Parts: sequence; C-alpha cells; structure tokens
Amino acid sequence: MTVTDKKDIIILGIESSCDETSAAVSRNTQILSNVIANQTVHQKYGGVVPELASRAHQSNIVPVVDQALREAAINISDVDAIAFTRGPGLIGSLMVGVSFAKSVGVALNKPLIEVNHMQAHVLANFLSLEGQEGKTPSFPFLCLTVSGGHTQIVRVTSPQQMEIIGHTLDDAAGEAFDKIAKVFELPYPGGPLIDRYAQSGNPKAFNFPVANLPGLNYSFSGLKTSVLYFLKKQLAQNPAFITENRDDLCASVQYTIVKTLILKLKKAALETGISNIAIAGGVSANSGLRKAITEEAVKNNWQIHIPPLSLCTDNGGMICLAAYFKYLAADFSTLDVAPSARFGF
Ligand code: KG4
Ligand code: ZN
Repeated sequence: MTVTDKKDIIILGIESSCDETSAAVSRNTQILSNVIANQTVHQKYGGVVPELASRAHQSNIVPVVDQALREAAINISDVDAIAFTRGPGLIGSLMVGVSFAKSVGVALNKPLIEVNHMQAHVLANFLSLEGQEGKTPSFPFLCLTVSGGHTQIVRVTSPQQMEIIGHTLDDAAGEAFDKIAKVFELPYPGGPLIDRYAQSGNPKAFNFPVANLPGLNYSFSGLKTSVLYFLKKQLAQNPAFITENRDDLCASVQYTIVKTLILKLKKAALETGISNIAIAGGVSANSGLRKAITEEAVKNNWQIHIPPLSLCTDNGGMICLAAYFKYLAADFSTLDVAPSARFGF
C-alpha cells in the first residue's frame, strides 16, 4: 500500500517556535483538536524571553499533547505521523518540540514530518474546522504572510511550491505593532490591543509615513522611529498625550501599517497577474487588515481567502495541515533532523 491509498490520515502536529506551546490532531484537512497554551510569563518583560519560553514549552508539552489527543478522541497508536515545526523560530523553543516529536516517533515507530512554520501559516488557509467545510484558495495564489517575525508576499503554486517574492528588510509588521504598542505603554503582545483600541479611534487623526521601497519589499522600522519622535514632541507639551489620544494613536498606526501592507500586495497582484489572494500569520487576525483586504477584493476583482481568527496566530493545526500534504508526497524526516532558527524555503 502506498501512503496515498490510505483513506484517512491522522496527524499529530506540534508547534513550539515562539511563545505558544500547541498540539493539534487532524484527520486529512480537518482539525479534530487544536490546543494552545499561551505563555503569560513574558508579559512583565514586554517581550518574549527565549530562555523562559524554552522552559515553559518543556513543562507544557506533555499536558498539551495529551489534551489534544483526548479532545480529538484519538489514541496515539492511531496517529499516522508526528509533525513538528523545524523552524524558523527561537532555537531553544524549537528544540523542545523537535526532541519531543522524535521521542514519540521512536517510541511508537511513527514517521516524522518536519514543517516550515511560515509555510504552515500559508497552508492554514486549507484547514477546515468542524462544521465549517470552507472554500480553499485556488492555485496559484499570493499569500500575504504577516507574523511577529516575518512579513512576506508568497507566490504559492502548490502546497509544496512556494516562493517569497517580497519581504521586510527590517521589522516585521507584527513587530512594528508590538514595538509601537510598547511606546504607547501597552503590555506585550501589543498588536491585538492596538487593534482593539483602534476600533474607537480616528485612523486619519495622525499622519504617519507609509514606506514605499522599490520592488515588493517592506520596511517598518521607519514607522516606529517616526511614532517615537512624534510622541516625544507631543509629550513635552502634554505629558498625558498618550492616554488622552490612545484610540486615535492606535487607529492611525494600524491604518498606516495596513496601508503599507496593501500597497505592495496590490503591486504584487498586478505584476504577477494573480488575483487569488490569501492572508496568514498573527497579523492577519487584525480587523483593519481583514476589512482592507475585503474592500480591495471588490475594487480589484480579487478572489480572497481569509482564515478564521483561531487559525491566524500560531497553532498546531497549521502544522498538521502542512504535514498532511507532505505525507501525501511521502516526504518524511530522518532521525538526525535538527531545529533551524532561520529555516527558509
Ligand atoms: O504568527 P504569530 O502568532 O507568531 C509568529 O510567528 O510570530 O504572530 C504574532 C504576531 C504578534 O506580533 C502579535 O502582536 C500579532 O501577531 N497580532 C496582531 C493581532 N493579533 C496578533 N497584530 C495586530 N492585530 C491583531 N489583531
Ligand atoms: Zn507564526
């Protein structure tokens, strides 16, 4: 029997690249369970502390995997493959997931499948949640993958064939949200909070620069500096400026980041002639971005795909899905596989 003759493929997916320990169980493209343990330990430091993240993964991984199997009502012996994030990410965090996956694979004689975290974000667009058999993007499509560490425009020709045609040269969009949120004295991770406060603010209250590099690349570090200088000036005149203008500041920053993201995405769509557009990664949960993409779709005649909120940020389900396609291609890993902080594709 070849791997593709099997009717149902059950995968256990493990994600531990940053500060979420997650495990999921899938049957084909359907998520049966998707357990995520958020690490709150980083909040008081205003960002992820790698050493603390590794330790938290170490204590979370067994209970999280156990819960994922129980919620899916799947016995570990019925799993067809163990999938894990090989990178990119924090090396100590990745090591926990990779080592755990290897141990389970060896103990139960199950094949291992390594997954690229950024490709998994893209493929989250193919996941179906129970009771929500959704539409999936048609190939080829462009995916704007926006996370805490990466901002990429990816041309996706097949589940295994992806090419990065644009990326950020400095900060990622999520990083910009988080760093600017810190300047606004909001706790980490600030992205979702900026999103929340932006809902009651005026996006045009303050004018921040939209970086427009040649080609399809992004830059977000200038925005952070410009917000910083602007605030310095305002705070000198009014020490309560941030608290008095919080919602307008958040709305203006979000407006600028979203405008910057859309600018290059539109250019990429024009240059490639591809009108199937998807978004992925933590920042794709942003309500301003989701709304802007929906509006652009009408203007530009795009067929868009927006993943459900629960599948935008890091989760084991997306690892299962990327592994599912690799399983079909019999693309398994060997036991000498090692995590890679800068794993590319
Ligand atoms: O993909 P992800 O969960 O982890 C990485 O692979 O980095 O993305 C996390 C990033 C963080 O920067 C977080 O602030 C941002 O996604 N994020 C948001 C929102 N939800 C998460 N940024 C803006 N608006 C949101 N609603
Ligand atoms: Zn991610």
